[in-house]
Amino acid sequence: MDLTALNKIANAMVAPGKGILAADESSGTIKKRFDSINVESTEDMRRDYREMLFRTSEAMRDYVSGVILFDETIRQSAKDGTPLVKLIEEAGSIPGIKVDKGAKDLAGAPGEKVTEGLDGLRERLKEYYDLGARFAKWRAVIDIAGDDIPSGYCISTNVHALARYAALCQEANIVPIVEPEVLMDGDHDIDRCYDVTEFTLKSLFDELYAQDVALEGTILKPNMVIAGKKCPDQASVAQVAEMTVKCFRACVPAALPGIVFLSGGQSDEEATAHLNAMNAGYKDKMPWALSFSYGRALQAAPLKAWGGKPENVPAAQAAFAHRAKMNGLAQLGEWSDGLENAA
Ligand code: 13P
Repeated sequence: MDLTALNKIANAMVAPGKGILAADESSGTIKKRFDSINVESTEDMRRDYREMLFRTSEAMRDYVSGVILFDETIRQSAKDGTPLVKLIEEAGSIPGIKVDKGAKDLAGAPGEKVTEGLDGLRERLKEYYDLGARFAKWRAVIDIAGDDIPSGYCISTNVHALARYAALCQEANIVPIVEPEVLMDGDHDIDRCYDVTEFTLKSLFDELYAQDVALEGTILKPNMVIAGKKCPDQASVAQVAEMTVKCFRACVPAALPGIVFLSGGQSDEEATAHLNAMNAGYKDKMPWALSFSYGRALQAAPLKAWGGKPENVPAAQAAFAHRAKMNGLAQLGEWSDGLENAA
């Protein structure tokens, strides 16, 4: 393990004004996204769509530090034969790879999941490094439902797997993004989200320490502390920012270079406004960089504008460039509502 190299990559992933594009939808998830715009999910269409994003040069160069890819995409070439990984590198961005195999039912815990994918991971990481990946992602899913879910058992099995994955990544000189996602589905309030997120993060950092993972070469990808979508009592932007920063200050060691949020079902503008409020209000109180690793909150607008039609590519690229810029500004705490509609 070369910790100096890992730390350099981790810092580049959270460079000022930049964040990560999560374009690592599994075959099932990208099909769902394409279904929503009535486009058939063929290998060529998936390639065309992602190539369009990676060729949005102003977004990629100025606001996107890295791109998370799915196994199919890291092996794909653009229509003109250029490997997609090369397009990303030429835009000055870092290629990354999703390596987990998805959340599966957890035995003995009805309604809960554990993420699989550790078998053969050492060999897969070596191959991904050779294909150009310099960071990886593993997503654990923690649901909140009633008083008994999540169970301590669900959290401990998931953070144990996250730490095993992270240690293998560092051995392969790949920066692990550790993603314990506390879902925002459900009707729980923001206080319950705080408690579950706090327990999850404290458990995660215990386990990373137990398994000798170097935090200097690790990036955390968490949920924000936020009320469930079906909760009648939705928190304000200021409250989400305050409670999220409070939770992370209590749980996340200063040695970690950065935290990059998932958007998790927030609207595009909510995801931007929340990130902005944290950076505008608390930058001098946070030892790590705070940025984005959004999937839906970066891609919903371009996906809709594209609709699978080549003639819509310029409009879709403009929509992607706009969201990337808004989130880049939010990373600096310089976004405002007025900028959303400015030309
Ligand atoms: P969303 O921003 O759509 O939640 O996706 C981010 C991600 O990579 C989830 O694993």
